[in-house]
Parts: sequence; C-alpha cells; structure tokens
Amino acid sequence: MLFLRRQVLAQVGRFANVSANASTKFGSLRFAHKPSFTADSYPSLQRDPRYATLNQADIDFFRSTLEKEGGSIVNGLDQSTDPSDLEAFNVDWTHKYRGKTQLAIKPKTTEQVSRILKYCNSRRLAIVPQGGNTGLVGGSIPVFDEIVLNLSLMNKIHSFDELSGVLSLDAGVILENADNFLAEKDHMFPLDLGAKGSCQVGGCAATAAGGLRLLRYGSLHGTILGIEAVLPDGTILDNMVTLRKDNTGLDLKQLFIGSEGYLGIITRLTVICPRRPRSTNVAFFGVSSYENVLKAFSESKSYLTEIISAFEMMDNTSQRLVDALNSTQRPLEEEHPFYVLLETQGSNKEHDEQKLNELIENLIEKEVIADGVIAQDESQLRVLWERREGITECLAKAGSGVYKYDVSLPLNVLYDLVNATKERLADLKLLGESSDQPVIDVVGFGHMGDGNLHLNVAVRQYDKRVEKALEPWVFEWVASHRGSISAEHGLGLLKKPYLGYSKSPEMISLMKTLKNVFDPNGIMLPYKYV
Ligand code: FAD
Ligand code: MLT
Ligand code: ZN
Repeated sequence: MLFLRRQVLAQVGRFANVSANASTKFGSLRFAHKPSFTADSYPSLQRDPRYATLNQADIDFFRSTLEKEGGSIVNGLDQSTDPSDLEAFNVDWTHKYRGKTQLAIKPKTTEQVSRILKYCNSRRLAIVPQGGNTGLVGGSIPVFDEIVLNLSLMNKIHSFDELSGVLSLDAGVILENADNFLAEKDHMFPLDLGAKGSCQVGGCAATAAGGLRLLRYGSLHGTILGIEAVLPDGTILDNMVTLRKDNTGLDLKQLFIGSEGYLGIITRLTVICPRRPRSTNVAFFGVSSYENVLKAFSESKSYLTEIISAFEMMDNTSQRLVDALNSTQRPLEEEHPFYVLLETQGSNKEHDEQKLNELIENLIEKEVIADGVIAQDESQLRVLWERREGITECLAKAGSGVYKYDVSLPLNVLYDLVNATKERLADLKLLGESSDQPVIDVVGFGHMGDGNLHLNVAVRQYDKRVEKALEPWVFEWVASHRGSISAEHGLGLLKKPYLGYSKSPEMISLMKTLKNVFDPNGIMLPYKYV
C-alpha cells in the first residue's frame, strides 16, 4: 500500500508485509520466568521489625469494614485462597521484583480507605498503594509482607463540566476509560501513554506520569486541579478544586502528585481536559544521524509552533526489535540510524497540513531527513504510533528481563548516554551474541520533545554483573551532565539509593521532615522512595 501522499518526499515509503511470526533471535514469551523474591535478590534489604505482622483479628476488621459497601480482600492467611490469586499483586510489570504480601485490600469508598489506614496506622501495619501495577521502578508491589491497598474498585467518573472541561473522577479509573468517556464529550484526557489500558488515573497522578504529549498538554502538576487524599492516620483531605485559579496558601495537592504513595492515598481527582483535536497528522521520518534528529526537532518547533503535539525519537535497535517481535508493518523500506515520530493536533486540517508540508519540504531540502511517510487515515496513524508505543512490550519480549532507565538530559548529549552504555557493556564483555553474555541489546528512544531519554538494556535474564555495571554508573553519568535520574517513572525501589544524584542533601532532609509530618509511623510505602 502506498503510504505517501506528498510528492515532496523524495523516496517513496511503503508498508512491507511483515509476518507476525517473523523469525527472531529472541524468545517469544514475555518474561516467562517467575521472578525471584525481592528480599532474596536484594539481601541488603531487611524487613523492618517495627512493622506488625498480619493476624486473623486484622483480617476480621478489614472484612467487616469492607463488607457493607462492596469492597473486597484477597486473603493469603486463609488456607482456601489459591496462592496464585495473590501473585498479580506481588509481581511488578518488569518481572524484576516480587513481594510476599498475604493480603490485598480493594476498598470501594474513600471512607473505607480512611478507616483502613487509621487501623493500619494504630497497628503499625505497612501499606503499599497499588493502581494498575504498570509502574516501572518497583514501587507498586510490596518488598516483604506489606499490605497491598489496590484502588481498582474505586472507578467511578463523577462529573464533567463541558464549559470548563473539568473532569472529576475516582483514582482507580483506568486512564483509557477516562479518555473514552471524554471522547464522547469531544474532549480528551491531557495525558496519554502506552499503558493506558491498565494504568489508573490515581497511579498516573502518584507518579506524575509524563507520557507521549507532555510537550503539548503539559505536566499533571499543571492539569490536575484538585485532589482528595487520605493521610496515614485516616484524615481525609478534600482539595477537590474545580477552579483553574486558586491562589490560597500552600498548594498541598502538589505534594501528592509524584509522591508515589509515600505520603498518603490519592482517592479522587479533578483534571482540566482540553478539547479533542479536529485534525491529527502523524509523520514518521528516517534520519541519518542524531545531529539531524536535533535539527528536525528545532525546525519542527519553528514551522509547527502551536500545533506540534509529539516529537518522539527511536533508534534503529528499537525498531529492529519491533520488526522482529511485533506484527506491525514497516513504514519505511530502508533502515536508518534514527527515526522520528512527529504528531500535530489542531482544529483546522488544511491549515495543519499546509504547515506540515512546508516543514517537510524544508527538511528534505536541507537533507535533515532521509525518508518519511505520513499517515493517510486512522489505521495508518495507529500503525505509526505502534512503532513507538510497542517498543516497551517488545523489549519485554526480547529476553527475560530489561534494565530500564528514564532520564532527563540536555538535548545535545541525550543520545551519548546510549553510546556510552554500549561501550561500557561491550568493554566489560557483557554485551554480545554468546549465551554467556547476559546483555542482548542496548536501546534508546524517548520523548525527545521533553528532553527525556529511555535507556533500556535487554538481558537474557536479570544478572547482578549487569546491574553492578549500570548502577550507579548511569546515574553518575546523568548527574555529571546535569540531568535528572528520573524524568517520569519516579523513584520506587529502583532509584531510592540514588536520589542524591538529583537532589541536594538539604532537599532530601526536607523531604524526610515532610514524611514525618504526614506519616510519623512510616506505614506508607516502606523501603522505597526517599
Ligand atoms: P502503579 O504502578 O500501580 O503505582 C505506581 C506508584 O504509585 C506506586 O508507588 C504506587 O504505590 C503508587 N500509587 C498508585 N496508585 C496510587 C494512589 N491512588 N495513591 C497513592 N499512590 C498510588 N510512565 C510515564 O510516565 N510515561 C509513559 O509514557 C509511560 N509509558 C508506559 C508504557 C508501558 C507499556 C508501561 C508498562 C508503563 C509505562 N509508564 C509510563 C509507567 C507507568 O505506566 C506509569 O508510571 C503509570 O502512571 C503508573 O500507573 P499505575 O496505575 O499502573 O500505578
Ligand atoms: C514510554 O515512553 O514508552 C514509557 O515511558 C515506557 C518505557 O520507558 O518503556
Ligand atoms: Zn516514557
């Protein structure tokens, strides 16, 4: 199928037919292995004896609290419970971490959350909040026997005001469901990411998720107007503001956005949602060098100004993985060292297309891009996005594990980290074809428009030699280039020891003081974050 409509693009890009079962050097199952217990793979972590151990009286309390309004529990102390029922609450998305919880609580109302936290606080029972469990830093699952407080039954959309665009909803609403609801009202959720079918809006708020269009619609720190949260002592903080402007005192909700469950449980949100765009264009370019990717970004901002909505960079290794492991068709025939997915969203198709045309003419004339295609319809648009959004899933299928780093860096050095990592792993003889070399591939992609690189090291299996080669080396590299060790995935368990690479001792000390104010018994999210 001819996939190109513009004569200006010198080379014609076509969809080649790629078999869904294309042969691959990788295994076909995603993380087929059962992960080791975190407590075994990280023996330096010890269970804190200040936390109480769950008993039958606790279970009776939780059951009686939940039964009236329809909450539920999965109770591992009960012999009749199938242990596999708790597995989903104990294992993280990357299959790197595995906890030992004996209890998952699924409340239905804020009042239930309040009663449960108050009880746990008085008993010193440790808690880990859990949304869709798609987090990538080991935050959403227990390390030892912490109780999982899962928000999935708190999933109501409460109201939507078409004039202001303000949506009010429970924390447990799946992101995609929220967006589908808004689509019917000609609006959209201001955040979109590859895990949208599973992650919850509360989990997104708790991680301050960035996603694919932050460049255009901004951070959740700006689009979340209000929050209802429950503190560890059971206090309900009702800050469900629906106003765009509220300049009264400290903006406490900001403390919860990105706090990963360290300070309390987010139970409801109000979010300001933009109109759904009437015109969306997606272009996919092959680019010969990183330098040209930078030029393409600069030109795109200049030509597209207010309509640019995403600028995503992918290296060739990432696209080879997608070719090998996904059934999506290749948009460009030839391979290129880099690829860019560029999206525009606006209100006037003709106007947007004209701007995009002018940009592409310019990029070709200046030899900034080597090849490219533009989606002609909704299904082609989805195919192009799948080349980008599918990378995470393909990395998960590549071997039996992936070390994931999500960093912010100045754009001029952003991709240097990928090259430096490859060199380091090759020097240490950890990267190679042979089965005793644990590293399969080093991949770089990310939200270039936000200065956010995703560095991924796919491994045959998780291997301490690789981990030691990468940590803290990656974080040192990032700090020495004035970057941030977490652009969007957060700290969780993975980055807790390394916060000092991005925050000063004074800031870390203030974070600890605040933790003490919110959670003096330290029951929320133990062993993680700060
Ligand atoms: P969980 O994973 O369940 O929890 C994450 C953290 O928040 C944990 O520490 C947990 O304790 C805490 N938490 C969860 N819910 C609450 C609550 N209600 N109150 C208090 N604390 C809570 N992230 C991005 O930023 N950008 C991306 O583009 C992106 N793409 C992804 C693509 C894929 C395929 C996958 C698997 C993940 C991706 N992620 C991305 C990471 C992840 O999806 C996000 O961090 C997401 O926001 C997590 O939401 P969740 O509901 O799954 O939270
Ligand atoms: C992405 O941008 O695709 C996500 O942050 C997930 C990942 O880093 O793999
Ligand atoms: Zn991302």
